[in-house]
Amino acid sequence: MRVRRSVVSAVACVLLAGASMSCTGGSAPAPGPVADLLDGRDWAHFAGAEPTRSGVRITRLDRRITRQDGSGGQPNPPVNLRGPHLVFQGGVRVEARLIRTDGTDAYLHLYGETPVVYDEWRHERRGVRIGVVGGRLRFDRWDGDSDRPAVTRTFGRGFGDDVRLAVDVRGDRLVLEADGNVVGTVPARDVFRHRRIWFGADAGDGGRGWTLGELRAMPLGRGRVSVRDAPALKVPRSTDALRDLAAGLRRPIRMGTALAAGPLLTDGAYRRTAGEEFSMLTPENDFKAQFVQPRRGVFAFEEGDTLVDFADANGMRVHAHTLVWFEALPSWMRAEMTHEDRRRVMTEHIRAVAGHFRGKVAEWDVVNEPMSDEDEDYTNGNRGVRPHLWFEAMGEQYMDIAFRTAKEADPHAVLYLNEYGVEEDGPRWDALYALLVRLKQRGVPIDGVGFQNHEYAAEDRTDPEVFRRKVRALAGLGLKARVSEMDVLVGEGEEDVQARQFAGKLAVCAEEPNCTSFSTWGFTDGYGSTADIRHYPPSPGDALPWDAAYEAKSTYWALRDVLGRTRRRPPQAPDGQGAVG
Ligand code: XIL
Repeated sequence: MRVRRSVVSAVACVLLAGASMSCTGGSAPAPGPVADLLDGRDWAHFAGAEPTRSGVRITRLDRRITRQDGSGGQPNPPVNLRGPHLVFQGGVRVEARLIRTDGTDAYLHLYGETPVVYDEWRHERRGVRIGVVGGRLRFDRWDGDSDRPAVTRTFGRGFGDDVRLAVDVRGDRLVLEADGNVVGTVPARDVFRHRRIWFGADAGDGGRGWTLGELRAMPLGRGRVSVRDAPALKVPRSTDALRDLAAGLRRPIRMGTALAAGPLLTDGAYRRTAGEEFSMLTPENDFKAQFVQPRRGVFAFEEGDTLVDFADANGMRVHAHTLVWFEALPSWMRAEMTHEDRRRVMTEHIRAVAGHFRGKVAEWDVVNEPMSDEDEDYTNGNRGVRPHLWFEAMGEQYMDIAFRTAKEADPHAVLYLNEYGVEEDGPRWDALYALLVRLKQRGVPIDGVGFQNHEYAAEDRTDPEVFRRKVRALAGLGLKARVSEMDVLVGEGEEDVQARQFAGKLAVCAEEPNCTSFSTWGFTDGYGSTADIRHYPPSPGDALPWDAAYEAKSTYWALRDVLGRTRRRPPQAPDGQGAVG
């Protein structure tokens, strides 16, 4: 759904057909033709937003990213990447009308570069935010060198509930106007150095939301402005990519990767490679609790929906991740509450999220990382199960409840438990196996186990033949297996180590009849979750089959070799178990 309003104030620009339109400024200093950024543009896929007759209603999401230990809470406001963005030359003016009904602080974001989510952290790049906060105008500018704004200023006072804002980008200055008066000028630095502006909006304290009544852009002086909509999600297919080789196996498997909605909408090489090479995707972060249910009962599925739409457009299966985990939780979910309430929070979350994606995703990681890292949990009666908040409230039964609730919410989805560090022998694996036996005995509707296969350090390297025994052990319990999140961090000159590890695990998956898919945790180092984020900008890791410039590494060719080889000499599959759906 797009925003439709009866009054179209901009003429010259909106008359041009197609996804983009151009407005060229004349030589006069006055603003050129006006481009309406709401009417006919997509605001329906923008998290927290609802297109209405009077504009786009912005709900207060308070979306944040917490660190692994639950601390922190970095703001993660949505960006309308599926909506319009500007490409301009020379000066540009952006006008907006912010209508507040219940005193909510209203923020409009103009991003010169879109943020990237890495490991429990949002890499905030260049952009500005202008807000009506209380009765004042607040301005922040991020320079791409810190999470925090480089400049924060407040201007004017006494602004009411209906404020007309304007920002003129004039060379090295940003001129701010409110209700027709210039209220301040700030240095632009390089904030719009790429001559692009993406939009975001956010509601702060005070109430439940506000309405973006108007949003327009126009060139200044001799400037030029064009409005671009998001690119089409469908990408050209080849017949000779990883996914095709895997589909050509006598027992086909899916080749998967973790994806993020952000780069999918802003980086053509990312989008094309993802759609061309992979037949399955896992949302890297966009389905996690702190993204989809940032406030209790307030859901933001839009980025997740984009991933589902991408999969749909390109014939990919969605392996959804994840319903019950102890990380990536919004702070309200971690708050003190009774055991009964904790249980209700878990089941309501599963019902809402699995219900929303019912019929659109094929598989779920219902329970993520249930096994403990602490030795004591293997001797103190916990039987190796991690004693996190869900366990504290329900004991091991949290898993039974989670799987049963997911099954009710989406009866056709294939339900997985997903774990790391269980590809090798040891107490973790033994405890997981015993847990799986108990779950099966209790009739819990679990279909399979994902082996994450993260290899972050030399001591994480595991032997494919040991992994094969684990996959076979699962077959013995009637369970499917998959490689769910593989990445292999290596060092200078160790590309062959990486290629060998990936190829070894893929070979096992292609050969073992109950192994359904092989998924890497991202595919290009450009957005890999092993990036070193201790400094700005982060430096990429090297754990994935493509480098940051989308050059395929020897790992990619090794994966192709395995699939080619396996196709020529198909394994003896004794039964049809584990056939790919
Ligand atoms: C990671 C993501 O890759 C990061 O971007 C995020 O900040 C933290 O989570 N096991 C899992 C995944 O099940 O969800 C984790 O993903 C990696 C480890």
